[in-house]
Amino acid sequence: MALRKENILIVDDDIDILELLQRHLKSMNYHTYKAISVKEALFILKDTFIDLLITDIQMPEIDGLQLLKFTNEHYPQMPKLVVTGYPSVNGALQVIQSGAMDYLTKPFTKDELKEGIEKAFAHGVERAMAKPKTATFKNNPYADMVGESSAFHKVIHIVERVKDNMATVLIQGESGTGKELVARAIHYSGTFSRKPFIAVNCGAIPENLQEAELFGYMKGAFTGADQNRNGFFQAAQGGTLFLDEIGSASLAVQTKLLRALQEKEITKVGSQKAEKVNIRIIAATNANLLEDIKNNNFRQDLFYRLTVVEIHVPPLRERKSDIPLLVEKFLRKYGVEYKDRLLRITPEVLRILERYNWPGNIRELENIVQRMVIMSDGILEVKDVPDFLKYKIDFPESGFLSLREMEKKYIQRVLIHTQANKTKAAEILQIDRKTLRSKI
Ligand SMILES: Nc1ncnc2c1ncn2[C@@H]1O[C@H](COP(=O)(O)OP(=O)(O)OP(=O)(O)O)[C@@H](O)[C@H]1O
Ligand SMILES: [Mg+2]
Repeated sequence: MALRKENILIVDDDIDILELLQRHLKSMNYHTYKAISVKEALFILKDTFIDLLITDIQMPEIDGLQLLKFTNEHYPQMPKLVVTGYPSVNGALQVIQSGAMDYLTKPFTKDELKEGIEKAFAHGVERAMAKPKTATFKNNPYADMVGESSAFHKVIHIVERVKDNMATVLIQGESGTGKELVARAIHYSGTFSRKPFIAVNCGAIPENLQEAELFGYMKGAFTGADQNRNGFFQAAQGGTLFLDEIGSASLAVQTKLLRALQEKEITKVGSQKAEKVNIRIIAATNANLLEDIKNNNFRQDLFYRLTVVEIHVPPLRERKSDIPLLVEKFLRKYGVEYKDRLLRITPEVLRILERYNWPGNIRELENIVQRMVIMSDGILEVKDVPDFLKYKIDFPESGFLSLREMEKKYIQRVLIHTQANKTKAAEILQIDRKTLRSKI
């Protein structure tokens, strides 16, 4: 006999099913909460500790998939059981499998329900036990980031420090290292996770529109401004504004940004009135801002305001011990997406991946794994690896190569990269095709 009655939240737009589930659950000695919509379920989740979620998929307005995505992000440890009429509709099966959830097809008997619940609880326990092994951060409800290198742990350590306060953060790192993911981890693992997270790519907004987009504008402020409008700052109230590629912010925006950070207020374009804003700003850049400051493209005073907390996300080549976990994660993701199952990889392939330098960082690794999953049939083998990854110049352990031998190896490497296309190879080597041919 359980000492404590478990709380089960049941979500279904069909009242008859809700009643039926409640009757069954009561007789099994569980305590139930009922919601006839996702909206209502979210209210209950907010102030109740729920031990198990049982939800339907097809519901008007917001469907069960959205609820599952939300709970996977915010309550990854919570066991879930999906009860649905048509598990194959709208990618439902994928979501269920990717979240390793149990499901039950309608109609079901009481015994099937009982078995489903027991399985879901058992899997929940497994998940909780397996957690520390996958080395995401401690108690992290945002389980999307993986890594186990000390460099990765350093980043996570800072995330833990800043997630619950409003300190401004500047995230620096090469392209594809995971800067945006770090920003999301700060927001979604912290106190303000239920407030908005607004991501703005400054590099994608033309300079002359940046001010209006960020701070909003008044009717008549410029041609086309036919009504008052709030900007991203207002949209992020109480939460996080993520300013990606901050180096692309216009100087006018930089000036306003500085004021927003200092005074915690903004003014809309065309307005005189200051408005209070209470948000956390996380900025990111893959550019060298110090260089921009020297060239008068970035305000030094703004730079110091932004760097209250600095996070440097190291390139993948400096934390290669993260590669196995990352590969495992992407294998799972793309295996489910393209092949409807989990795929495996041979140790040789993993070694090749660990040897490569990854100039495009984690994004490049993700693309390569995706490509291999699409091409393979079952187990990823050496034959599925793109050629340019396989080839490595073997320097002798001791002694040296002659220039001639070195040149030969290097030309081979370029030819493998261009898939024996001599024109392209000549272009890379910056020699003409005739010279290349004679060398070959
Ligand atoms: N630690 C991690 N674990 C799992 N996936 C990761 C991790 N870091 C990055 N990724 C994945 O790698 C990809 C690139 O990450 P992200 O977009 O955050 O990089 P970025 O630094 O913002 O790149 P850019 O400068 O090009 O915008 C994304 O698909 C992201 O999910
Ligand atoms: Mg980015």
